[in-house]
Amino acid sequence: MHTGRSGVEITPREGLLAWCRPGFEGELAAELGRDAAREGRIGHVRARRGDGLALFLLDPSSCPPGSADRPWTRPIFARGIRRLRTELRALDPTDRLSPVLEALETLRPPHGWSGLVVEHPDSDAGKPLAPLARGFGRVVEAALARRGWLQRDGVQAAPVLHLALLATDHLLLAESCAGEPPWPGGIPRLRLLREAPSRSALKLEEALLVLLRPEERQGWLQPGMQAADLGAAPGGWSWVLARHHLDVTAVDNGPMAASALATGLIRHLRADGFTFRPQRPLDWMVCDMVEQPARVAARIATWLREGWCRQTIFNLKLPMKKRLEEVDRCLGILQDRSGRALDLRARQLYHDREEITVFARPSAS
Ligand SMILES: C[S@@+](CC[C@H](N)C(=O)[O-])C[C@H]1O[C@@H](n2cnc3c(N)ncnc32)[C@H](O)[C@@H]1O
Repeated sequence: MHTGRSGVEITPREGLLAWCRPGFEGELAAELGRDAAREGRIGHVRARRGDGLALFLLDPSSCPPGSADRPWTRPIFARGIRRLRTELRALDPTDRLSPVLEALETLRPPHGWSGLVVEHPDSDAGKPLAPLARGFGRVVEAALARRGWLQRDGVQAAPVLHLALLATDHLLLAESCAGEPPWPGGIPRLRLLREAPSRSALKLEEALLVLLRPEERQGWLQPGMQAADLGAAPGGWSWVLARHHLDVTAVDNGPMAASALATGLIRHLRADGFTFRPQRPLDWMVCDMVEQPARVAARIATWLREGWCRQTIFNLKLPMKKRLEEVDRCLGILQDRSGRALDLRARQLYHDREEITVFARPSAS
């Protein structure tokens, strides 16, 4: 640490900043700690319940030169993950800009940053920082532009600069990790359309954005493809698939919303999602049944083993205390019982509450 010209504490950091849903810092911290151990990274986790984030602070001596920027973990419970560079404390509210520019001077990439994102925690303490983050973001952006530290055209491969405001006098400087969307706090701004049958529609929309690459979304969501939606009522997920022009069998004993049925692409089947099986293989099976997660995982594994669907997106509800252990157990069930190697991608999405969303598909190899 050194004290900057304005008396601010400026501490170079190497490690990760990960955003999460407030209340899930313990799960995130545990994932960061165990992934670091697996990758031989020495350091420690800093996390406090309710803060909506966790930091992994690398011991600089354990970090081979040039390796810090390579992604070595993508935790399930992280909404967004950044490469941490500097911590600034004791900021003077009358001049936050000078120490930030002082710190950035040493971090500046040769061609400048390709963008700037200002973010703050999604916590009770963090949400009131939104107006300050917006205002300060404009000030920093103008200062970076004046110095030529921001690319105008964004053509050179360069990281996005992330400025994380943790309190009015405390912020972190970080950079984007490859493949991470630049959404502030890892939160995509999705709008719920009036005709959406439920807010859950946003969950599947976010899952398609976060868990699939653009070319996968394009190739795997084609008009005329066939899907089943287990636990479909009132129909948000089915409606999202229908908007991609898929034909959907919506399995649920509960009623479907009129707006879902009005798409003309959704057939409602009153049946048990645990016994339903398609007559011929489908492109997709999605599942949002409120059930014990291990039971859901076992059923999904059956679908994959029997080849009843090419790929699946499903939710695992986690109302229990040991949530990470339960996730590990369920993903283990999925791997073991599907009888094949899987491409598995799991994430607690912004629109997920006490649950995670998983994409699974037999891996190409
Ligand atoms: C969270 S809601 C699904 C919301 C839906 N994904 C949407 O977007 O509107 C859970 C649904 O699972 C259904 N469900 C629970 N157990 C089921 C089962 N064994 N078979 C079929 N549906 C089931 C419930 O009836 C309920 O409608």
